Amino acid sequence: MARSLLIFGITGELGSRVAQLAVARGHKVYGVSRGSNTRDRADLAGVEMFTGDKLDRDFLEKTLSKLPVDAILDTIPSINGINNIHEFFPQVKNVFLVSSTGTFVPLQTLPADETHPWREENHVNFHGKIANDKLALELFAKDKFPVTIFRPTNIIGDGRVPLDLFGARDIEFFRALRDSKPLTLPDCREILLQSGCNWDLAKAMTLALDAGDKIAGEIIVISTAQAIRLQDYLATAMEFLQSSSEITWVDADEFYKAHPEHTGLPFLRQHMCFNIDKARKLLGYTPEFTGKEGLLKALEWCKESGLL
Ligand SMILES: NC(=O)c1ccc[n+]([C@@H]2O[C@H](COP(=O)([O-])OP(=O)(O)OC[C@H]3O[C@@H](n4cnc5c(N)ncnc54)[C@H](OP(=O)(O)O)[C@@H]3O)[C@@H](O)[C@H]2O)c1
Repeated sequence: MARSLLIFGITGELGSRVAQLAVARGHKVYGVSRGSNTRDRADLAGVEMFTGDKLDRDFLEKTLSKLPVDAILDTIPSINGINNIHEFFPQVKNVFLVSSTGTFVPLQTLPADETHPWREENHVNFHGKIANDKLALELFAKDKFPVTIFRPTNIIGDGRVPLDLFGARDIEFFRALRDSKPLTLPDCREILLQSGCNWDLAKAMTLALDAGDKIAGEIIVISTAQAIRLQDYLATAMEFLQSSSEITWVDADEFYKAHPEHTGLPFLRQHMCFNIDKARKLLGYTPEFTGKEGLLKALEWCKESGLL
């Protein structure tokens, strides 16, 4: 059945891909962004575009709430944004919010799934996402707010510099590998990384349009099928870049003490390893790409776009 979907974050990595896939499947798509994002995006042909701030209540009331939408995707949710959707779009049958598996860490079981604890804040999990998700689920419990929370893992694929071994997305890391420069790295070789390819993640969210109200109130992890070790991730990048960099591994605690500027490192050191059976069962989702393939797609894109 054709749906009518409003996407907040339409020019983003996920929003634009969901839009392209949803239009191709015959759904009507409206898109909102402030018009400032210049990042690489998917083709938005067929999308009815609106420029404005999703937190501007006047814009929501006078323009967006009049649209005949029956589903909303917010790729960059916030407390105010969730409350606004709840207030201004009482008619919608589905509200999809993008959260993160960063809510679950540190993982107590491998692989983890949606039953893993996530509500308590700790030194490394994503407090903002936790607050959003709690609010959305409270509104579901209180008011049947038809929310489904997607929790992607680290996003990879064309259009964005992939994660580096310091926990950032710094192209200089991959340039150093390309130039076969020696590198001193925090020893995270055995850490598990489970990336989600951007097109696969978008496919999962597009499939959700066919799932109706059976996914309301659910948290769904979306990702590739399997985690890989960071040493294999690095080896894949080095092979692609024909790198002969000499790597010196340093105890990760010592490294971080000496380099606190690598603020993404504590998170990188958390295992990411998830079972995606719930997405398979509820959405009919099957990821097309592995983590290594997603990394290769990202590096190919870096080359094509002149970054590498
Ligand atoms: N990166 C990862 O590895 C990762 C992993 C797990 C989960 N996530 C989650 O995935 C989501 C990121 O999605 P993405 O990659 O598609 O983001 P993105 O590429 O950064 O795009 C964000 C989009 O939102 C729009 N936007 C931002 N603020 C807005 C506002 N106030 N009003 C209207 N539009 C606004 C931006 O356009 P304008 O700036 O032009 O408005 C842009 O279209 C986030 O929720 C993130 O936490 C990311």
